[in-house]
Amino acid sequence: MESSSPIGIFDSGIGGLTVARAVKDLMPNEQLIYFGDTAHLPYGDKSTASIQAYAVKIADVLLKARCKAILIACNSASTAAFELVKAYVASRAKVFDVIEPVVEYVSEYYGGQKVGLIGTKQTVNSGVYRQKIEALNKGVQFSALATPLLAPMIEEGFHNNQISQVIVQNYLEEVELKDVDALILGCTHYPLIKSQIESIYNGKVEVIDSSEMVAKATYASLEALGLLNKGEKLKDRFLVSDYTPSFENTTKLFFGKEVNLEKYPLWE
Ligand code: DGL
Repeated sequence: MESSSPIGIFDSGIGGLTVARAVKDLMPNEQLIYFGDTAHLPYGDKSTASIQAYAVKIADVLLKARCKAILIACNSASTAAFELVKAYVASRAKVFDVIEPVVEYVSEYYGGQKVGLIGTKQTVNSGVYRQKIEALNKGVQFSALATPLLAPMIEEGFHNNQISQVIVQNYLEEVELKDVDALILGCTHYPLIKSQIESIYNGKVEVIDSSEMVAKATYASLEALGLLNKGEKLKDRFLVSDYTPSFENTTKLFFGKEVNLEKYPLWE
């Protein structure tokens, strides 16, 4: 591992660009290699075994690109494959996920209180958030609701408008999310509807967006290991396993600016 090597970031598609953006804002000197597995999205409806197979294959691509760190910028992939990718990558790169920093935050600030989670079916049904929060034993009352309509809704450009308002409000009224003190956005697409959720709650519920926490945790870990790039910064790359103009057009939504996508099939 060399400090001049890139940071690899991957997601099922382009939603993980919200995390890439937070990483870039905090560490502008780092080269990013982003991989969006657009050929296989959505991960949220896939089996754990399929997501694990994709994740290992993507880890290989990022290792070949000499990444010093691999950040799993997808909750569905983090729940299904974090432990496996860590074991597979071993000492070749540092591996981070989007869940651990949130679990630590919730345990520190919401002991004895009620915390809700929204995310894909994979993320919610895996029970990984619950297990990790309960393992820290801070008395957090945790409940989760799968909200599978939200990622495709956001990708189709429905956010901060009347349609998203009705759908989001319906989900937030479900019994699982009743009287929560905080709500975890358990999907990397959801930062785009954070302000809408906050206004539905009239600012009375903290809406927890993992992207900045994950960027900070990655920064702290790389700094402690002496792995922050001090030298020349190379150009970021954005790879996708399947290319369509519509993916490229949507990058701006998530990354804040348009990026060029390079097609990089996972299997030839
Ligand atoms: N970005 C993915 C996540 O964080 C959701 C999209 C998908 O289902 O692939 O879970």
